[in-house]
Amino acid sequence: MSDRDYARDVNARYTFDHLEDRILDGLRAMGKDLNALTPEDLAPADQLHSGGLAATLELVALAAVRADEVALDVGGGLGGPARILASRSGCRVTVLDLNEAFCRTGAALTARVGLGDRVTFQQGDAQAMPFADHSFDVAWTQHASMNIPDKRALYQEIFRVLRPGGRFIFHDHMAGPVQPIHFPVPWARDETINHLIAPEEARALLRETGFRERLWEDQSDQTTVWFRESLARMNATGAAGVPIGLRLAQGADFDEMMRIQGRNFEERRVSTILALLDRP
Ligand SMILES: C[S@@+](CC[C@H](N)C(=O)[O-])C[C@H]1O[C@@H](n2cnc3c(N)ncnc32)[C@H](O)[C@@H]1O
Repeated sequence: MSDRDYARDVNARYTFDHLEDRILDGLRAMGKDLNALTPEDLAPADQLHSGGLAATLELVALAAVRADEVALDVGGGLGGPARILASRSGCRVTVLDLNEAFCRTGAALTARVGLGDRVTFQQGDAQAMPFADHSFDVAWTQHASMNIPDKRALYQEIFRVLRPGGRFIFHDHMAGPVQPIHFPVPWARDETINHLIAPEEARALLRETGFRERLWEDQSDQTTVWFRESLARMNATGAAGVPIGLRLAQGADFDEMMRIQGRNFEERRVSTILALLDRP
């Protein structure tokens, strides 16, 4: 697939009309005051990964980013995790995302919660980042690598833009011990933009790139439980029981993807890894 076709297919997966309006309407319907929104208020709409806000808070604690440090969120989507990180740690965060509409909507949501001076958005491809060497103290990514075909380029780029002594933290889906996976899943309708690799393959690539592992934790059991609970809420309450982010843009289609992804976890076809690595 050419670079242009790849970007087109990934963007088609994540582009929705009037996303900001739909998010704000959804938050208003939940009883939020749109004139006094906090980063946490946005969480039902902007934490586009399993585990939601709790997963992001776990990364915040683990990454221990200082106020004078600069972080990069690779494939940061609407910037939900970046806003939580910036507001909790006081640091600055750059969000890199392939999707122009996510960057635009993310910047508008960031301005709304008063973090425009600390969280900025840059449209671009994680496999060829538009940043100088050694630009960041911390690199962070959640649930983006499964859409990225060239993992070697991804990890090399993260290594390159981190300063020596920097760290890389991620929370990612990878291939489970049972294959293949069932489609459609929240990140891909079919094989075309699905790029899960096995944890051991990722680990070897990271080592070859030069990273030193500090923590490597298989969180598949927690993710399985999270899907079980989210699906139970969804079945009991319908739309109100699930995060509104992509659901609100996709309706019943999204419910089906959640069910299939839950089944992938139950059958150990997808796994989740939390990792922290040092860049020497
Ligand atoms: C499931 S969303 C996760 C967003 C965010 N990390 C979060 O947890 O809320 C995956 C994101 O990865 C982005 N993405 C996919 N491939 C990318 C690439 N090659 N470079 C940069 N971003 C990419 C998508 O545009 C999308 O915003």
